[in-house]
Formats: sequence, structure tokens, C-alpha cells
Amino acid sequence: MGLDKAPQSVTAELTRSAIFLVVVLNADSGADHAVRELCADMASLLRGIGFRRPGRRLSCVVGFGSEAWDRLFGQPRPKDLHPFAEITGAHYAPSTPGDILFHIRSTDMDLCFEMATQIMERIGNFVATTDEVHGFKYFDERDLLGFVDGTENPIGLAAAAATIVGDEDPSFAGGSYVIVQKYLHDLKAWNELPVEQQEKIIGRKKLSDIELSDDAKPSNAHSVLNTIEEDGEQLEIVRDNMPFGDVGKGEFGTYFIGYTRSPARIERMLTNMFVGRPKGNYDRLLDFSRAVTGTLFFAPSADYLAGL
Ligand code: HEM
Repeated sequence: MGLDKAPQSVTAELTRSAIFLVVVLNADSGADHAVRELCADMASLLRGIGFRRPGRRLSCVVGFGSEAWDRLFGQPRPKDLHPFAEITGAHYAPSTPGDILFHIRSTDMDLCFEMATQIMERIGNFVATTDEVHGFKYFDERDLLGFVDGTENPIGLAAAAATIVGDEDPSFAGGSYVIVQKYLHDLKAWNELPVEQQEKIIGRKKLSDIELSDDAKPSNAHSVLNTIEEDGEQLEIVRDNMPFGDVGKGEFGTYFIGYTRSPARIERMLTNMFVGRPKGNYDRLLDFSRAVTGTLFFAPSADYLAGL
């Protein structure tokens, strides 16, 4: 594990509020400088805002898309950084633009909002926002489908081992890959399904969050398709999905964010979900949830950011 280089707060404890901000750089020659300065100041900005309300666990992870990496930093580059590849299977996962991701978390939305405001204050003239989602936790850690979301996340050392690049890419040890996808749910259709069928789709009990027994769990349950192994060992990721919505527009969604030391892990999970394992045995969650964005970023170590 690349823990001699301090990672960003990738494995921070899950919070009840988050802002996901995805921006693209404009052609202005000042953009590169503004972004580098912001990154170098990130720790100080977090201290300044976070200290005003101690204990609210404000954090912000900054990630860069493949093209943005080349423009801002050039060589060397993280070895597995590439544009997110769209997937066409039983359902479609698009690849959408994004140069920089800011994943801002806190127990309280006011801190997230202030952090996002200060970020845009610094780089707003040099970027266009392609997506901004304000996420919240719904009751007891549930998504808007009504299921508890995040239970099987690795924690502590296991979380770091799952997400932080180590010896496989020594120049970028301490960094992490991150994939985001915004999903919109057809809640009406979902809520018309009997709870027993919903539970078979997810692979867990709705009310109690207990895992279904192996006999009761179909091979295309969401939790089965997302359990992948290599040489007998489970390959894990860290997720911090957040519900979001717009009641007036009838929009109900889940913002998926997954951190990993290798994007291939999440790409395999996505293939299992969208194409199926085996092909055709796809994730029925997707009959009710449509992916409308998809982008891959690399979040370098906190030391790398500070050094900019
Ligand atoms: C509409 C979007 C999604 C929703 C609502 C959703 C919801 C859930 C729920 C309720 C669980 C069970 C509880 C838990 O362990 O967290 C779960 C598990 C999981 N999900 Fe998702 N998820 C979504 C998308 C994704 C995507 C895109 C991936 C990866 C590419 C993913 C990977 C996983 C993994 C790895 C688990 C744990 C499996 C296990 O070890 O049992 N999910 N998800």
C-alpha cells in the first residue's frame, strides 16, 4: 500500500451530506495556473472552513480526468488513467465529459456548500460546471429505492488496501482512481414491485438490511454481480453513494461514486451489471435506474496536491 504518501480523504467515514462537482476547463491560458494554485491550497482551505464548525468532518477529494491530466501535469501520468469507456449491454452506460471532480463531504450541508463556493470563487472564471449534485442520506443510510446502501464497504486498513495505489505504480502511490455515475430512478415502477422482488434484485432484506441466504439470492442480484474475485480473493472498492432529487421535476436519483486502486475492478463490476455475468444475466436494478453520466478520474495523493 502506498501509505508513505498521504492519500486524500478517500476512505473518510461516510457522511450525511455531500456535493459532487464536475467541471471542464476552458481554453483560457490562466486556467492551469488557477487550478494548480487551488490544489496546492486545498488543505489550508479545508482547515479554514472546517475549523469554524469542528467535528463536522469536512473533506474534499480532487480528481482529474485523463485529458485534463495531460494538459495540467503531462508526464509522468498514472498508468491506468483513461477516459471512461461507455458500455452497451442490456442497458447503456454513457461516458460524459469531466476534467476535475470535487467530492466534498461533511456531516452538514452548510460546510459542503461553503467549500464548493470557495472552490468556484477561485476557478469559476476558468471552468464550466457539467454536473453539480447535492446529495443527502435518506433516513438510516438508505437510497431512494428504500435500501440501506454502503453496508459491505471495507473499512479501516481494508478500505485503504482496496483504494490506495501502491507498488504497482510507485510514482503515483497514495493516489486513487474514482468513477462517478449519476443514476435516475423510475420510482413509480420500482415501488409497484412487491418488496420480495426488490429484495431479490438487491440481494438483501429491505427493512433489516440482512443479506439473503445463498439459496434465495439469484445469480443476477446486484450484490452478487458486484462480488468479483481474482485468485480466490475478493476485489473490493469503497462506495459513497448519495440520494439526490428534485421533487418538482419528479427526479429521484442515486449518485454513484466508487474509489479503487485499479479502475479495472469497477469496470468489471459495471460489465457484470450492464452486460451480465454471463452475458444477458444483467442487473435488474438497471430496469429501474438509468445511468446518465459516467466519468473516470485519478485523485493523486494529498502530498502530490500540496506540491503543486
Ligand atoms: C443505482 C445505483 C446503485 C444503487 C441504488 C446501489 C445500491 C446498492 C445497495 C442497496 C447495496 C447493498 C448494500 C451494500 O452493501 O451497500 C449495494 C451493494 C453494492 N454495490 Fe451498489 N448500487 C448502485 C450502483 C452500483 C454500481 C454502479 C456499482 C459498481 C460498479 C456498485 C457496486 C456495489 C458493490 C461492490 C456492493 C457490495 C456487494 C457485496 O459485497 O455484497 N453499485 N449497492
